[in-house]
Amino acid sequence: VFMNEISEFRVLESEIKDKLQLEHVIIVSGNSDEQLSVKHDLGKACVQFLSSILTSNQTIAVTGGTSMAEVANQMKPMEHAANCTFVPARGGLGEQVENQANTICAQMAKKVNGNYRMLYVPDPLSEDTYHTIIEEPAIKDILEMIHDSRIVLHSIGDAITMAKRRKASGAVIDKLKNENAVSEAFGYYLDEQGKVVYKVRTVGMQLEELAFAQYVVAVAGGSSKAKAIQSYFKQGKSNVLITDEAAAKELLKG
Ligand code: F6P
Repeated sequence: VFMNEISEFRVLESEIKDKLQLEHVIIVSGNSDEQLSVKHDLGKACVQFLSSILTSNQTIAVTGGTSMAEVANQMKPMEHAANCTFVPARGGLGEQVENQANTICAQMAKKVNGNYRMLYVPDPLSEDTYHTIIEEPAIKDILEMIHDSRIVLHSIGDAITMAKRRKASGAVIDKLKNENAVSEAFGYYLDEQGKVVYKVRTVGMQLEELAFAQYVVAVAGGSSKAKAIQSYFKQGKSNVLITDEAAAKELLKG
């Protein structure tokens, strides 16, 4: 049974790879909506992949959320990759402290004996503050590191779920509903075709910049995220997807 499952997953992986036009797909067994252990496995798979690509003196940009927090949880020392630095991909996006990119960076760095930098900006930013803050030398410095990251680790969420979790205003939620937002990543809300319908105003990684990173790894699982994953990849330039069996099978139906 085990061997059959392995080869079944290799087939699933290549089907998803073709469907979403990705360089690399890793699928873990189960449904992370239903079992916490599957989320742990997603985290482990991401750590394993990172370990296979990471070399010394690299900068890794990461986002927040529970999937990324689990990646941090599973992080292991990587002796072959000394002096790496973890930076948050974007400024605050309204997550609880334990699921904020800043916290996750610090935790990842601690586990791999690396460094981290934090990005302290209020969120969301007003237009005026935005323009002032990006000129602050300390902020400029870290923004440069974010832009130069060779590796980006991020998650994808369901649009309305994320807007509610961030306590977005009624007006924003109405806009997302009216414009049929399906997915969210990096503070961008996208519709089924991958069109950006709303964007949280904060500093950091812009969707267009993902094209400059060598590895952009999305970690997102659970059948409830299948539509969001599909929508995100219509736009997002991520080239690696780490997901679970339930999301993958649901994705292939759509
Ligand atoms: O808020 C940060 C973030 O990475 C979002 O971009 C994404 O939609 C969400 O977290 C995913 O959260 P979770 O892993 O908890 O589903």
